[in-house]
Amino acid sequence: ASIWVFHGPNLNLLGLREPEHYGSRTLAEINQEVVATANQVGINAECRQTNHEGDLLDWIQALTCDDFLILNPGAWTHTSYAIRDAIRAVRVPTIEVHLSNIHAREAFRANSVIAPVCIGQVSGLGADGYVLAMRYAIDYQDRRSE
Ligand code: DQA
Repeated sequence: ASIWVFHGPNLNLLGLREPEHYGSRTLAEINQEVVATANQVGINAECRQTNHEGDLLDWIQALTCDDFLILNPGAWTHTSYAIRDAIRAVRVPTIEVHLSNIHAREAFRANSVIAPVCIGQVSGLGADGYVLAMRYAIDYQDRRSE
């Protein structure tokens, strides 16, 4: 079993992209901290980013139900029934993460079509949101393996 962190479209631009919403840290810096949080307790974690929805679907379909997924779907949050269906199909426990508070921005961002198939959502805590999601994922995996 592994903990996976998947980032959707445009998140490769973190650090440059709208820092007032998304902060100044790069994706590589965030990934490093999140993976270190897992590795410190002997858990394997891996991060990936894609701008192609089909890649994300393939990656989700390749998960097994003993894995755990931390997912920032980017703008697909608001549009992708396909990603929602894939998470439901694989039955992998998932936390949705957003750097910005999607409930405090344009109206279209407040709705997530992904959230109903997730354990929960972290939104507005910046890069710390990924680390907090990772801590939850580690505890969840510990409880499952007892
Ligand atoms: C985001 C919020 C989305 O609305 C937006 O399209 C993104 C980033 C966030 O992390 O705050 O790409 O998911």
